[in-house]
Amino acid sequence: MKSLPSAHSRAVRRGKEQTKEDEQHCQHRALLTPYKMGRFDLSHRVVLAPLTRERSFGNVPQPHAILYYQQRATKGGLLIAEATGVSDTAQGYKDTPGIWTKEQVEAWKPIVNGVHAKGGIFFCQIWHVGRVSNHTFQPNGQAPISSTDKPLKPVARANGIDAPTISTPRRLQTNEIPLVINDFRVAARNAIEAGFDGVEIHGAHGYLIDQFLKDQVNDRTDKYGGSLENRCRFALEVVQAVVDEVGADKVGIRLSPFANYSEASDSNPEALGLYMAHALNKFGVLYCHMVEPRMVNIGEKFVTPHSLRPIRDAFKGTFIVAGGYDRDDGNKAIADGYADLVAYGRLFLSNPDLPRRFEIGAPLNKYIRDTFYLSDPVIGYTDYPFLPSNV
Ligand SMILES: Cc1cc2nc3c(=O)[nH]c(=O)nc-3n(C[C@H](O)[C@H](O)[C@H](O)COP(=O)(O)O)c2cc1C
Repeated sequence: MKSLPSAHSRAVRRGKEQTKEDEQHCQHRALLTPYKMGRFDLSHRVVLAPLTRERSFGNVPQPHAILYYQQRATKGGLLIAEATGVSDTAQGYKDTPGIWTKEQVEAWKPIVNGVHAKGGIFFCQIWHVGRVSNHTFQPNGQAPISSTDKPLKPVARANGIDAPTISTPRRLQTNEIPLVINDFRVAARNAIEAGFDGVEIHGAHGYLIDQFLKDQVNDRTDKYGGSLENRCRFALEVVQAVVDEVGADKVGIRLSPFANYSEASDSNPEALGLYMAHALNKFGVLYCHMVEPRMVNIGEKFVTPHSLRPIRDAFKGTFIVAGGYDRDDGNKAIADGYADLVAYGRLFLSNPDLPRRFEIGAPLNKYIRDTFYLSDPVIGYTDYPFLPSNV
Protein backbone atom coordinates (compact mmCIF):
# COMPACT_ATOMS: atom_id res chain seq x y z
CA MET A 1 0.00 0.00 0.00
CA LYS A 2 1.24 3.46 -0.92
CA SER A 3 2.03 5.52 2.12
CA LEU A 4 0.12 8.75 2.52
CA PRO A 5 2.11 11.91 1.97
CA SER A 6 3.28 13.45 5.22
CA ALA A 7 2.01 16.84 6.33
CA HIS A 8 5.42 18.21 5.39
CA SER A 9 5.44 16.82 1.84
CA ARG A 10 1.81 17.99 1.37
CA ALA A 11 2.88 21.47 2.40
CA VAL A 12 5.87 21.34 0.02
CA ARG A 13 3.60 20.22 -2.82
CA ARG A 14 1.07 22.98 -1.99
CA GLY A 15 3.96 25.43 -1.99
CA LYS A 16 5.08 24.24 -5.45
CA GLU A 17 1.53 24.43 -6.80
CA GLN A 18 1.20 27.90 -5.33
CA THR A 19 4.46 28.98 -7.00
CA LYS A 20 3.23 27.60 -10.32
CA GLU A 21 -0.07 29.42 -9.89
CA ASP A 22 1.80 32.61 -9.02
CA GLU A 23 3.96 32.17 -12.13
CA GLN A 24 0.89 31.65 -14.31
CA HIS A 25 -0.76 34.64 -12.72
CA CYS A 26 2.37 36.70 -13.42
CA GLN A 27 2.42 35.46 -17.02
CA HIS A 28 -1.17 36.60 -17.49
CA ARG A 29 -0.56 39.94 -15.87
CA ALA A 30 2.96 40.81 -16.99
CA LEU A 31 1.65 43.50 -19.38
CA LEU A 32 -0.18 45.13 -16.50
CA THR A 33 2.83 45.50 -14.25
CA PRO A 34 4.50 48.88 -13.72
CA TYR A 35 7.76 49.79 -15.39
CA LYS A 36 10.15 52.68 -14.96
CA MET A 37 11.30 54.04 -18.31
CA GLY A 38 13.95 56.64 -17.49
CA ARG A 39 12.13 59.33 -15.57
CA PHE A 40 8.70 58.09 -16.62
CA ASP A 41 6.72 55.88 -14.27
CA LEU A 42 4.62 53.64 -16.48
CA SER A 43 1.73 51.92 -14.75
CA HIS A 44 1.53 49.20 -17.41
CA ARG A 45 3.36 48.02 -20.52
CA VAL A 46 0.69 48.26 -23.21
CA VAL A 47 1.90 51.00 -25.57
CA LEU A 48 -0.07 52.66 -28.35
CA ALA A 49 1.99 52.08 -31.51
CA PRO A 50 2.30 55.00 -33.93
CA LEU A 51 -0.65 54.89 -36.32
CA THR A 52 -1.09 57.13 -39.36
CA ARG A 53 -4.77 58.06 -39.60
CA GLU A 54 -4.80 60.67 -42.40
CA ARG A 55 -7.17 63.02 -40.65
CA SER A 56 -4.84 66.00 -40.22
CA PHE A 57 -6.23 68.18 -42.97
CA GLY A 58 -3.59 70.21 -44.76
CA ASN A 59 -0.91 68.59 -42.54
CA VAL A 60 -2.36 70.36 -39.48
CA PRO A 61 -3.50 68.20 -36.54
CA GLN A 62 -7.22 68.65 -35.97
CA PRO A 63 -9.36 68.99 -32.83
CA HIS A 64 -10.90 65.54 -33.43
CA ALA A 65 -7.51 64.05 -32.53
CA ILE A 66 -7.99 65.27 -28.95
CA LEU A 67 -10.73 62.74 -28.33
CA TYR A 68 -8.99 59.99 -30.31
CA TYR A 69 -5.79 60.13 -28.24
CA GLN A 70 -7.61 60.86 -24.99
CA GLN A 71 -9.69 57.72 -25.48
CA ARG A 72 -6.49 55.67 -25.61
CA ALA A 73 -4.73 57.47 -22.73
CA THR A 74 -4.44 55.96 -19.26
CA LYS A 75 -2.66 57.16 -16.18
CA GLY A 76 0.94 56.09 -16.66
CA GLY A 77 0.32 54.64 -20.14
CA LEU A 78 2.69 55.42 -23.04
CA LEU A 79 1.22 56.63 -26.33
CA ILE A 80 3.24 57.21 -29.48
CA ALA A 81 1.65 59.68 -31.87
CA GLU A 82 1.22 58.96 -35.55
CA ALA A 83 4.12 59.66 -37.89
CA THR A 84 4.54 63.43 -38.09
CA GLY A 85 6.44 65.20 -40.85
CA VAL A 86 9.61 67.13 -40.05
CA SER A 87 9.50 69.45 -43.07
CA ASP A 88 7.59 70.32 -46.22
CA THR A 89 9.51 67.62 -48.13
CA ALA A 90 8.64 64.92 -45.58
CA GLN A 91 5.12 64.04 -46.73
CA GLY A 92 3.99 61.18 -48.94
CA TYR A 93 0.40 60.60 -47.84
CA LYS A 94 -2.56 62.89 -47.71
CA ASP A 95 -3.48 64.67 -44.49
CA THR A 96 -0.70 63.40 -42.31
CA PRO A 97 0.33 65.84 -39.57
CA GLY A 98 3.48 67.90 -39.51
CA ILE A 99 5.46 69.67 -36.82
CA TRP A 100 7.57 72.17 -38.72
CA THR A 101 5.27 75.24 -38.65
CA LYS A 102 4.05 77.37 -35.76
CA GLU A 103 0.45 76.53 -36.73
CA GLN A 104 1.15 72.79 -36.47
CA VAL A 105 2.87 73.18 -33.10
CA GLU A 106 -0.08 75.18 -31.77
CA ALA A 107 -2.52 72.60 -33.14
CA TRP A 108 -0.71 69.78 -31.33
CA LYS A 109 -0.91 71.55 -27.96
CA PRO A 110 -4.55 70.79 -27.07
CA ILE A 111 -4.07 67.18 -28.20
CA VAL A 112 -1.04 66.74 -25.97
CA ASN A 113 -2.84 68.51 -23.12
CA GLY A 114 -5.75 66.11 -23.53
CA VAL A 115 -3.45 63.11 -23.09
CA HIS A 116 -1.69 64.69 -20.12
CA ALA A 117 -5.01 65.50 -18.48
CA LYS A 118 -5.59 61.74 -18.33
CA GLY A 119 -2.11 61.08 -16.95
CA GLY A 120 -0.73 59.64 -20.20
CA ILE A 121 2.84 59.93 -21.46
CA PHE A 122 2.98 61.09 -25.05
CA PHE A 123 5.82 60.81 -27.57
CA CYS A 124 5.74 62.28 -31.07
CA GLN A 125 7.00 60.13 -33.93
CA ILE A 126 9.05 62.37 -36.21
CA TRP A 127 9.17 61.29 -39.82
CA HIS A 128 10.47 61.86 -43.30
CA VAL A 129 9.13 59.57 -46.04
CA GLY A 130 12.02 60.11 -48.46
CA ARG A 131 11.19 58.44 -51.77
CA VAL A 132 7.83 57.01 -50.61
CA SER A 133 6.20 60.07 -52.08
CA ASN A 134 5.55 61.81 -55.34
CA HIS A 135 5.91 65.29 -56.74
CA THR A 136 2.33 66.27 -55.82
CA PHE A 137 3.29 66.15 -52.13
CA GLN A 138 6.44 68.15 -52.65
CA PRO A 139 7.01 71.91 -52.59
CA ASN A 140 6.95 73.35 -56.12
CA GLY A 141 6.18 69.89 -57.49
CA GLN A 142 9.81 68.88 -57.10
CA ALA A 143 11.09 65.30 -56.87
CA PRO A 144 11.05 63.58 -53.47
CA ILE A 145 14.47 63.28 -51.84
CA SER A 146 16.16 60.03 -50.87
CA SER A 147 19.46 58.26 -50.34
CA THR A 148 19.12 57.06 -53.92
CA ASP A 149 17.64 58.01 -57.26
CA LYS A 150 16.12 54.56 -57.76
CA PRO A 151 12.32 54.83 -57.90
CA LEU A 152 9.95 52.47 -56.16
CA LYS A 153 7.78 50.21 -58.22
CA PRO A 154 4.30 51.75 -58.06
CA VAL A 155 2.89 48.66 -56.31
CA ALA A 156 5.51 48.76 -53.57
CA ARG A 157 3.99 51.72 -51.80
CA ALA A 158 3.93 51.10 -48.07
CA ASN A 159 0.86 50.64 -45.89
CA GLY A 160 -1.30 49.64 -48.82
CA ILE A 161 -2.38 53.24 -49.30
CA ASP A 162 -3.20 54.00 -52.89
CA ALA A 163 -1.10 56.72 -54.39
CA PRO A 164 -1.46 58.43 -57.74
CA THR A 165 2.06 57.65 -58.91
CA ILE A 166 5.48 57.32 -57.48
CA SER A 167 7.99 59.88 -58.68
CA THR A 168 11.63 59.17 -59.31
CA PRO A 169 13.46 60.49 -56.26
CA ARG A 170 16.41 62.82 -56.24
CA ARG A 171 19.51 61.54 -54.50
CA LEU A 172 20.54 63.93 -51.76
CA GLN A 173 23.95 65.48 -52.27
CA THR A 174 26.35 64.94 -49.41
CA ASN A 175 26.32 68.61 -48.47
CA GLU A 176 22.50 68.69 -48.27
CA ILE A 177 22.31 65.95 -45.66
CA PRO A 178 23.03 68.22 -42.66
CA LEU A 179 20.00 70.31 -43.67
CA VAL A 180 17.71 67.29 -43.43
CA ILE A 181 19.28 66.32 -40.11
CA ASN A 182 18.56 69.84 -38.94
CA ASP A 183 14.90 69.40 -39.88
CA PHE A 184 14.73 66.46 -37.46
CA ARG A 185 16.42 68.58 -34.81
CA VAL A 186 13.94 71.43 -35.21
CA ALA A 187 10.98 69.03 -35.31
CA ALA A 188 12.15 67.51 -32.01
CA ARG A 189 12.44 70.94 -30.46
CA ASN A 190 8.96 71.80 -31.76
CA ALA A 191 7.55 68.58 -30.32
CA ILE A 192 8.84 69.51 -26.88
CA GLU A 193 7.46 73.02 -27.39
CA ALA A 194 4.07 71.45 -28.18
CA GLY A 195 4.24 69.67 -24.82
CA PHE A 196 5.21 66.15 -25.91
CA ASP A 197 7.20 64.19 -23.33
CA GLY A 198 9.67 63.07 -25.97
CA VAL A 199 10.15 62.06 -29.57
CA GLU A 200 10.46 58.79 -31.43
CA ILE A 201 12.65 59.03 -34.51
CA HIS A 202 10.98 57.05 -37.30
CA GLY A 203 13.82 54.92 -38.62
CA ALA A 204 11.59 52.08 -39.80
CA HIS A 205 9.36 50.88 -42.64
CA GLY A 206 11.25 51.95 -45.72
CA TYR A 207 11.11 55.71 -45.10
CA LEU A 208 14.03 58.12 -45.43
CA ILE A 209 16.20 56.88 -42.56
CA ASP A 210 15.58 53.25 -43.55
CA GLN A 211 16.48 54.19 -47.15
CA PHE A 212 19.94 55.02 -45.84
CA LEU A 213 20.18 52.01 -43.51
CA LYS A 214 19.32 49.22 -45.93
CA ASP A 215 21.80 47.90 -48.46
CA GLN A 216 19.10 47.05 -51.02
CA VAL A 217 18.23 50.75 -51.34
CA ASN A 218 21.32 52.72 -50.40
CA ASP A 219 23.62 52.79 -53.44
CA ARG A 220 25.67 55.79 -52.39
CA THR A 221 29.41 56.03 -52.75
CA ASP A 222 30.00 58.86 -50.26
CA LYS A 223 30.43 58.53 -46.49
CA TYR A 224 26.70 57.74 -46.17
CA GLY A 225 26.82 54.60 -48.33
CA GLY A 226 28.64 51.30 -48.75
CA SER A 227 29.75 49.84 -45.42
CA LEU A 228 27.34 49.15 -42.56
CA GLU A 229 28.97 51.95 -40.61
CA ASN A 230 28.44 54.38 -43.48
CA ARG A 231 24.81 53.34 -44.03
CA CYS A 232 24.06 53.89 -40.34
CA ARG A 233 25.75 57.29 -40.32
CA PHE A 234 22.68 59.30 -41.35
CA ALA A 235 20.45 57.64 -38.71
CA LEU A 236 23.05 58.19 -36.02
CA GLU A 237 23.64 61.81 -37.01
CA VAL A 238 19.89 62.36 -36.70
CA VAL A 239 19.99 60.72 -33.27
CA GLN A 240 22.96 62.89 -32.27
CA ALA A 241 21.20 66.08 -33.38
CA VAL A 242 17.94 65.20 -31.66
CA VAL A 243 19.71 64.10 -28.47
CA ASP A 244 21.73 67.34 -28.45
CA GLU A 245 18.52 69.31 -28.86
CA VAL A 246 16.15 67.69 -26.37
CA GLY A 247 18.26 65.29 -24.27
CA ALA A 248 18.74 61.53 -24.59
CA ASP A 249 16.19 60.93 -21.83
CA LYS A 250 13.46 62.14 -24.21
CA VAL A 251 14.54 60.25 -27.33
CA GLY A 252 13.45 56.90 -28.70
CA ILE A 253 13.91 55.40 -32.15
CA ARG A 254 11.87 52.93 -34.16
CA LEU A 255 13.69 50.48 -36.41
CA SER A 256 12.60 47.56 -38.58
CA PRO A 257 15.81 45.87 -39.77
CA PHE A 258 13.98 42.72 -40.89
CA ALA A 259 11.15 44.42 -42.76
CA ASN A 260 10.89 44.88 -46.48
CA TYR A 261 8.36 47.69 -46.76
CA SER A 262 8.70 49.89 -49.79
CA GLU A 263 11.47 47.69 -51.20
CA ALA A 264 13.71 48.50 -48.24
CA SER A 265 15.35 45.23 -47.24
CA ASP A 266 18.79 44.41 -46.00
CA SER A 267 21.00 41.42 -46.75
CA ASN A 268 22.02 41.09 -43.07
CA PRO A 269 19.27 42.53 -40.88
CA GLU A 270 20.59 41.05 -37.65
CA ALA A 271 23.99 42.69 -38.12
CA LEU A 272 22.21 45.96 -38.91
CA GLY A 273 20.04 45.74 -35.78
CA LEU A 274 23.00 44.84 -33.59
CA TYR A 275 25.17 47.60 -34.98
CA MET A 276 22.43 50.13 -34.29
CA ALA A 277 21.79 48.79 -30.78
CA HIS A 278 25.46 49.16 -29.84
CA ALA A 279 25.71 52.59 -31.44
CA LEU A 280 22.53 53.79 -29.70
CA ASN A 281 23.97 52.73 -26.35
CA LYS A 282 26.66 55.35 -26.77
CA PHE A 283 24.00 58.07 -26.88
CA GLY A 284 22.10 56.64 -23.92
CA VAL A 285 18.78 57.05 -25.74
CA LEU A 286 15.69 56.26 -23.71
CA TYR A 287 14.26 53.50 -25.83
CA CYS A 288 14.61 51.40 -28.92
CA HIS A 289 11.35 50.32 -30.52
CA MET A 290 11.77 47.39 -32.83
CA VAL A 291 9.39 45.80 -35.27
CA GLU A 292 9.26 42.00 -35.13
CA PRO A 293 11.02 40.02 -37.87
CA ARG A 294 7.69 38.29 -38.57
CA MET A 295 6.34 41.61 -39.93
CA VAL A 296 8.18 41.38 -43.24
CA ASN A 297 5.31 43.16 -44.91
CA ILE A 298 2.90 45.44 -43.17
CA GLY A 299 -0.12 43.71 -41.70
CA GLU A 300 1.09 40.18 -42.44
CA LYS A 301 2.73 37.78 -40.03
CA PHE A 302 5.35 35.44 -41.46
CA VAL A 303 6.88 32.46 -39.75
CA THR A 304 10.52 33.32 -39.31
CA PRO A 305 13.50 31.77 -37.57
CA HIS A 306 14.70 35.27 -36.60
CA SER A 307 14.29 36.78 -33.16
CA LEU A 308 14.99 40.20 -31.69
CA ARG A 309 16.58 38.55 -28.65
CA PRO A 310 20.25 39.26 -29.55
CA ILE A 311 19.41 42.89 -30.30
CA ARG A 312 17.38 43.19 -27.11
CA ASP A 313 20.31 41.76 -25.15
CA ALA A 314 22.70 44.23 -26.76
CA PHE A 315 20.61 47.35 -26.15
CA LYS A 316 20.92 48.91 -22.70
CA GLY A 317 17.82 51.14 -22.60
CA THR A 318 14.12 50.29 -22.68
CA PHE A 319 13.27 47.80 -25.41
CA ILE A 320 9.83 48.04 -27.04
CA VAL A 321 8.63 45.38 -29.46
CA ALA A 322 5.76 45.59 -31.93
CA GLY A 323 4.15 43.59 -34.65
CA GLY A 324 1.37 41.06 -34.50
CA TYR A 325 1.13 40.86 -30.72
CA ASP A 326 -1.97 39.72 -28.87
CA ARG A 327 -2.54 39.53 -25.12
CA ASP A 328 -0.92 36.15 -24.57
CA ASP A 329 2.26 36.60 -26.53
CA GLY A 330 2.57 40.15 -25.19
CA ASN A 331 2.44 38.84 -21.64
CA LYS A 332 4.92 36.15 -22.55
CA ALA A 333 7.34 38.65 -24.12
CA ILE A 334 7.36 40.64 -20.88
CA ALA A 335 7.45 37.63 -18.55
CA ASP A 336 10.38 36.12 -20.52
CA GLY A 337 12.33 39.38 -20.42
CA TYR A 338 12.21 39.51 -24.23
CA ALA A 339 10.91 43.08 -24.07
CA ASP A 340 10.16 45.79 -21.54
CA LEU A 341 7.10 47.12 -23.32
CA VAL A 342 4.84 45.92 -26.14
CA ALA A 343 3.34 48.33 -28.67
CA TYR A 344 -0.04 47.48 -30.14
CA GLY A 345 -1.20 48.94 -33.44
CA ARG A 346 -4.39 47.55 -34.87
CA LEU A 347 -5.74 46.19 -31.59
CA PHE A 348 -5.31 49.54 -29.85
CA LEU A 349 -6.78 51.34 -32.86
CA SER A 350 -10.00 49.31 -32.49
CA ASN A 351 -9.98 48.98 -28.67
CA PRO A 352 -9.52 52.36 -27.02
CA ASP A 353 -9.57 50.64 -23.62
CA LEU A 354 -7.09 47.91 -24.61
CA PRO A 355 -5.12 47.82 -21.31
CA ARG A 356 -8.35 47.32 -19.36
CA ARG A 357 -9.56 44.60 -21.74
CA PHE A 358 -6.23 42.82 -21.33
CA GLU A 359 -6.46 43.17 -17.58
CA ILE A 360 -9.81 41.44 -17.32
CA GLY A 361 -9.47 39.18 -20.34
CA ALA A 362 -12.41 40.83 -22.11
CA PRO A 363 -13.17 40.14 -25.77
CA LEU A 364 -11.75 42.60 -28.30
CA ASN A 365 -13.43 44.74 -30.95
CA LYS A 366 -12.34 43.80 -34.46
CA TYR A 367 -10.55 46.44 -36.46
CA ILE A 368 -12.05 47.65 -39.72
CA ARG A 369 -9.31 48.06 -42.27
CA ASP A 370 -11.48 50.07 -44.69
CA THR A 371 -11.79 52.91 -42.19
CA PHE A 372 -8.12 53.15 -41.15
CA TYR A 373 -7.45 56.08 -43.48
CA LEU A 374 -10.90 57.61 -43.95
CA SER A 375 -10.99 61.39 -43.61
CA ASP A 376 -14.00 61.10 -41.32
CA PRO A 377 -13.38 62.64 -37.89
CA VAL A 378 -15.50 60.00 -36.16
CA ILE A 379 -16.06 56.86 -38.24
CA GLY A 380 -13.34 54.29 -37.69
CA TYR A 381 -11.58 56.81 -35.47
CA THR A 382 -13.39 57.68 -32.26
CA ASP A 383 -16.42 55.38 -32.58
CA TYR A 384 -14.90 52.04 -31.52
CA PRO A 385 -16.86 51.06 -28.39
CA PHE A 386 -15.49 50.90 -24.85
CA LEU A 387 -16.41 48.13 -22.46
CA PRO A 388 -19.39 49.11 -20.32
CA SER A 389 -18.07 50.65 -17.10
CA ASN A 390 -19.71 47.96 -14.93
CA VAL A 391 -17.77 45.08 -16.55
C1 LIG B 1 -3.42 52.14 -39.87
C2 LIG B 1 -1.97 51.95 -39.60
C3 LIG B 1 -1.13 53.05 -39.59
C4 LIG B 1 0.22 52.91 -39.26
N1 LIG B 1 1.01 54.01 -39.18
C5 LIG B 1 2.28 53.91 -38.72
C6 LIG B 1 3.05 55.08 -38.45
O1 LIG B 1 2.59 56.21 -38.59
N2 LIG B 1 4.32 54.89 -38.00
C7 LIG B 1 4.86 53.64 -37.81
O2 LIG B 1 6.01 53.53 -37.41
N3 LIG B 1 4.13 52.53 -38.03
C8 LIG B 1 2.86 52.64 -38.44
N4 LIG B 1 2.10 51.51 -38.59
C9 LIG B 1 2.62 50.22 -38.11
C10 LIG B 1 2.16 50.00 -36.66
O3 LIG B 1 2.73 50.93 -35.77
C11 LIG B 1 2.49 48.57 -36.16
O4 LIG B 1 3.89 48.40 -36.15
C12 LIG B 1 1.86 47.53 -37.05
O5 LIG B 1 0.46 47.78 -37.18
C13 LIG B 1 2.04 46.13 -36.47
O6 LIG B 1 1.51 46.07 -35.17
P1 LIG B 1 0.08 45.38 -34.87
O7 LIG B 1 0.17 43.97 -35.36
O8 LIG B 1 -0.05 45.49 -33.37
O9 LIG B 1 -0.95 46.16 -35.61
C14 LIG B 1 0.75 51.63 -38.98
C15 LIG B 1 -0.09 50.52 -39.04
C16 LIG B 1 -1.43 50.67 -39.34
C17 LIG B 1 -2.33 49.46 -39.34
